[in-house]
Amino acid sequence: ESADKGEYRHYMLKEIYEQPKVLRNTLQGRISKTQVLEEAFGAEAKAIFDQVESVQIVACGTSYHSGLVAKYWMEDWAGIPCYVEVASEFRYRKVVVPKNSLFVTISQSGETADTLAALRSAKEAGYLASLTICNVANSSLARESDLSFMTLAGPEIGVASTKAFTTQLVALQLLSIALGRRHNLSSDKEQALVSALHQLPQLCEDVLALDDTILHTSEAFSEKHHSLFLGRGVQYPVAMEGALKLKEISYIHAEAYPAGELKHGPLALVDSDMPIVAVAPNDDLLEKLKSNLQEVQARGGKLFVFADKNSGFVNDESTVVINLPHVDDSIAPLVYTLPLQLLSYHVAVLKGTDVDQPRNLAKSVTVE
Ligand code: G6P
Repeated sequence: ESADKGEYRHYMLKEIYEQPKVLRNTLQGRISKTQVLEEAFGAEAKAIFDQVESVQIVACGTSYHSGLVAKYWMEDWAGIPCYVEVASEFRYRKVVVPKNSLFVTISQSGETADTLAALRSAKEAGYLASLTICNVANSSLARESDLSFMTLAGPEIGVASTKAFTTQLVALQLLSIALGRRHNLSSDKEQALVSALHQLPQLCEDVLALDDTILHTSEAFSEKHHSLFLGRGVQYPVAMEGALKLKEISYIHAEAYPAGELKHGPLALVDSDMPIVAVAPNDDLLEKLKSNLQEVQARGGKLFVFADKNSGFVNDESTVVINLPHVDDSIAPLVYTLPLQLLSYHVAVLKGTDVDQPRNLAKSVTVE
């Protein structure tokens, strides 16, 4: 029974651990060995995708963060402009709609009031077509959109979204590739991206095996009141999602910053009382990130770095390094999300909060 906690103490933990399986399910039948099978987006997808020249993504909360990650993929791989906005802002402003723009909503529930209202206003505004990436078949968003892609995360009970987020990211990769084919993306590159997706579930298993280390790390957070999450490039929205998880369930103030902006404000907050989390895969921005982190150390900040094992970080009195397996850049945002989910979970358990039902929050915000 999927709505049962089974051996787990909380739904959230169960849902974190389900990720390898639900990622596999979401990919199943949607990719071949080498290609995206774009029929997964619906029978009319092909004709619509042929016309798309830009993408507008609208969502709320964690689903918004998956949209922010997708912007990097859409512009890098597909070479088309991608705009991302929270639904509560989008719905109330005058929007200039570019020609042949695809309107994309992302939602676990398919019932979030602002996202649904944004879709309805987009229909009047002259977008080419609407697509929803959604976890609930037959939800309002699925019914009212021209195209839909179902994430197959299964029921998500914990208020803080986990497995819905990573399955959304997979869906957004498939969308970026499907649109990319019609623009900048070569079939060799598609093949490389699809092959990384095939490796993803196993890599997630490997990262979940770090749970004991992360549990130990969480002790450094439970007595703190503030924390900073840093990332660069596509890892910046991953840092945002990590910070959101921590504040939602542990009630610790957590703020994400693109590491390159540190000097423009947050560095003033750094002292030994504020733990600083950094996401550091071995990518093109690693050296830039390292020099940002040195600034933090120089001011007495305590660093917790989730790093590629080949990134060259070492443990010392100011730095705790949690080594992750080396992963392809394309899937790094998914893989690096998991340890941040586990970190927030363990901090919340240590603090004794109601992990699955945090105060003041609802699973689905169906009224404005
Ligand atoms: C609420 C939930 C979040 C979720 C957000 C958007 O705030 O607590 O976990 O990310 O709504 O929900 P949706 O169902 O549209 O993804």
